[in-house]
Amino acid sequence: MSPRTAFVLPVVTTAAALVAMTGCTSTETSGSDGSKVELVKSGKLTTCTHLPYEPFQSRQDNKIVGFDVDLVDLVAKELKVTQEIVDTPFEGIQTGEDLNARKCDVAAAGMTITPVREENLDFSDPYFEATQALVTKKGAGYDSLASLKGKKLGVQQGTTGEEYAKKNGKDVETVQFEDLALLLTAVKTGQVDAAVNDNGVLFEYVRKNPDTEVTAEFETGEKYGVGVRTGNDALRAEINKVIKAAQSDGRYDAIYKKWFPAAPKN
Ligand code: ARG
Repeated sequence: MSPRTAFVLPVVTTAAALVAMTGCTSTETSGSDGSKVELVKSGKLTTCTHLPYEPFQSRQDNKIVGFDVDLVDLVAKELKVTQEIVDTPFEGIQTGEDLNARKCDVAAAGMTITPVREENLDFSDPYFEATQALVTKKGAGYDSLASLKGKKLGVQQGTTGEEYAKKNGKDVETVQFEDLALLLTAVKTGQVDAAVNDNGVLFEYVRKNPDTEVTAEFETGEKYGVGVRTGNDALRAEINKVIKAAQSDGRYDAIYKKWFPAAPKN
């Protein structure tokens, strides 16, 4: 058990006591089948995310937009509330801490479903497939972790990419960055020789930054899920229902095409 567990528990207890005291009437909304979905803020579906992670979530003209934003909007619509997004470090999202502290109802952050995370939060059904990839300045000549021996490889803190790089990069010096923007700027400026992150965000970046390229993909077989507090089955069921419906009625494809115009959907 991590030391964090001890820290989280009192928060949960306090929140639970609060819920018991208030009866939580103002924060309940009806799920589509009449079941009660409890929300941290009345009339809102509050989403924790970590910016920027384009095209899943990024700020454009003072608005937060992206694939995940559109997907969660469908859930909010189903619950007859509006989505409100909180930008917060990825660490608190992936450890379940933010959800437990009632900072948000859902976590939508291009977040990979992993067994460790599943111990700390619950995931919706998978909604997107991803794999790790390597980005460099164009022509740098690094196309594998082996080629980066003795070199600097940028990773994003707390991500599956960091884990992959540390596990598989022998004699590669990993350099940790707090968010994707800092990581990619470090590649561009030569502060690191290459960086590892999810393929979707890296392909989007190289499309907009032709002086960079994706030189390798590592078949990690990841799947993104929307996170909810452990045991929040009412909300998780709503999310799953919406994902399933959207995938069969064309709404998912429309969102996919909007954010991945160049990629054929497989
Ligand atoms: N898919 C990776 C993971 O779950 C990276 C996610 C980073 N997301 C973000 N919004 N910063 O570890």
